[in-house]
Amino acid sequence: MIVAGVMSGTSADGIDVALVRLENSTARVPRATGAEDRQEKPSHARFELLGHAAFPYPASVRNCVLRSMNAQCMGVAELARLNFLLAELFADAVAATEKKFQWNADLVGCHGQTIYHQGKPAPFLGKKLAVTWQIGEGAVLSARLGIPVVSDFRPADMAAGGKGAPLVPYLDYLLYRDDGLGRIALNIGGIANVTAIPARATPEDVIAFDTGPGNMVIDAMTQKLFHKRYDRDGRIAAAGRTLEGPVSHFLQLSFFRRKPPKTAGREEFGRKFAERFWRDARSVRARKHGGARVEKADLIRTATVLTTRSISDQVRRYVLPQGSFSELIVSGGGAKNRTLMASLANEAGALELRLRSSDEFGIPPDAKEAVAFAVLAFETWNRRPSNVPAATGARRPAVLGKISYP
Ligand SMILES: Nc1ncnc2c1ncn2[C@@H]1O[C@H](COP(=O)(O)OP(=O)(O)O)[C@@H](O)[C@H]1O
Ligand SMILES: [Mg+2]
Repeated sequence: MIVAGVMSGTSADGIDVALVRLENSTARVPRATGAEDRQEKPSHARFELLGHAAFPYPASVRNCVLRSMNAQCMGVAELARLNFLLAELFADAVAATEKKFQWNADLVGCHGQTIYHQGKPAPFLGKKLAVTWQIGEGAVLSARLGIPVVSDFRPADMAAGGKGAPLVPYLDYLLYRDDGLGRIALNIGGIANVTAIPARATPEDVIAFDTGPGNMVIDAMTQKLFHKRYDRDGRIAAAGRTLEGPVSHFLQLSFFRRKPPKTAGREEFGRKFAERFWRDARSVRARKHGGARVEKADLIRTATVLTTRSISDQVRRYVLPQGSFSELIVSGGGAKNRTLMASLANEAGALELRLRSSDEFGIPPDAKEAVAFAVLAFETWNRRPSNVPAATGARRPAVLGKISYP
């Protein structure tokens, strides 16, 4: 069957659609008891990417999405409207992708747009709750396209005691598990996250967590200082210098000292953080650089290095002590930022990790998360669980998502 995976991440940059052909396969599935003890069972999806396309949100929609993530600014009526509006835009994006590649999907897996995520339980009116909210109404998407839609993947994992994130490790495991090599998948979206898969891993061995900012702080600074959505190809950062003071200062934050599993979002590295980064970077630069003029580009460079340095710091602290790893495989929009990638290559070299791209495994970096939600939808369609409890902290495997029928 052909499944359209639809993703729109915390960057709120737009909609990614991947058309994926999936079939059940009788793969050899390693079980928890060890690599020797394997059994044949039809529980793996085999997949092939047929095509992918990206659809930037119009500025007015993006602004509305960003405001919705800051719910004090938005009333419930507007949120309800946005839920239905995004479904219309998702449907348009899937239809355009089908037309472009001349394939029709049989099923959609739609992540939706996260407007709130709090993975750790906190007291609320007498109960302790972990909560999440992705919007883009599945019933509307299904009606427009005339095919079933799986949406709302995260709550089932949370209901099973998990953090509802990350969910992409399911695909990482299928793609990268190897008998001889330990590999670390790194996705640089708005937030950066890693999935570490030791050699000969079973799903129980997977380590996955958010390392901190991906493009989020770079985007916010570029917007503030250059009135652009992002630093295209890393050109602005390439012209700037790194302010070491703020980088080491921000790496002291409690988030970076907290042990995984952990998740981050706009709640941690969004607008408030960007304001702090800007204020502190300016005051540090005033102290450290005396009379020397510091350019706006220095702040973009510094935000870029904060991303790569936090990635290597987190990998060094929380991944490398857990086993032997030799590759770091990058995906996400950040892979297009050349300055970011050059800095990351440096950091990876220092950790003796070979830097690779998901492209080498048949998945273009900007398609990976959309592919993941196609694969997850296929598993749900077959009533199979697809959370990785070791990654989310769930007590048990869970069948993810809700199905809408046309
Ligand atoms: N050509 C490019 N040059 C630099 N950065 C880019 C480029 N294309 C995309 N990006 C970055 O990638 C981000 C989007 O990445 P994406 O993987 O879609 O993240 P998310 O999952 O958070 O939506 C953009 O906000 C931008 O920062
Ligand atoms: Mg995106």
